[in-house]
Amino acid sequence: MTTTAPTLGTAGHGAPTAGTAGTATSAATATSAASAAPTATRRVVDAPVRMFHALFALAFAGAYITGDSEAWRALHVTLGYSMAGLLAFRVLYGLAGPRPARLALLWRKLGAGRAWLGAVRTALVQRRRAGVPWRQGQNLGMATAIATLLALALPLTLSGYAAYQEWGGDIVGEALAEVHEALGSAMLAVVVVHVTAVVVLSLLRRRNQAAVMFTGRVEGPGPDLVPRNRAWLAVLLLAAVLGFAAWQWRAYPQGLWPKAAAGEVQAGEDRAADDD
Ligand code: HEM
Repeated sequence: MTTTAPTLGTAGHGAPTAGTAGTATSAATATSAASAAPTATRRVVDAPVRMFHALFALAFAGAYITGDSEAWRALHVTLGYSMAGLLAFRVLYGLAGPRPARLALLWRKLGAGRAWLGAVRTALVQRRRAGVPWRQGQNLGMATAIATLLALALPLTLSGYAAYQEWGGDIVGEALAEVHEALGSAMLAVVVVHVTAVVVLSLLRRRNQAAVMFTGRVEGPGPDLVPRNRAWLAVLLLAAVLGFAAWQWRAYPQGLWPKAAAGEVQAGEDRAADDD
């Protein structure tokens, strides 16, 4: 998860300016040349991680919105299973994927938290506000939010599965449903923190911090941190999620959403009969 370090930790590297040019004319020429030149960018997040992020965020949002409704249960469950599958993909990719996508980097970043707290304490004791490593703290905060989101996804989906399968009878089942709901609310709270942090850091750093999760690139010279984009793997991941949704749609006689339930029950039953 190196994506965190370069994306939110990289200082701006714009096109060169004419600050050191000798004459006013050459300065003006250099300035216009600089503004005409395309800004250098480098890839710091590859396509599979970006696709994971988009699908994970959408799956959570959809599952949260449909969580309270019995009529949308099939879609809710499908999105929950998708989140679990996406998490499994991310863990595998974080273990065996390219270095910049490794979860070990996220872990290392979190490990720096102790030293950071020590530095803050020292600065406060010495009443040196300027000595507080604010930027490192912002990156640490973002890494903590990301780690919490990944960590919450497993108990969230497991508790949902257990409650849906009615494990342990009525009382246990109800307790599981409560736990599932509490975990969903906790995850929503962390998502709000995560998205707010992206917005606040964008304002503080005068740079769109969300863009990297869409383009995979940040401004700045130098070689790509992730040499290969692996778009094929992102397409495969998307196909797996869509394929799973289609399979689920066929598995539920009424389809995945209420509209289908109202108008296409017969079609669904026909589909189920075809499968027999
Ligand atoms: C509009 C909404 C969102 C925006 C703009 C956004 C933006 C970002 C950005 C910029 C990063 C990279 C942070 C860094 O490298 O330091 C990131 C990472 C991440 N975000 Fe979001 N995010 C959004 C919604 C969500 C949601 C809803 C979830 C979870 C349900 C989520 C989960 C994650 C995770 C797990 C990562 C780490 C990705 C990885 O390396 O595998 N995000 N997000």
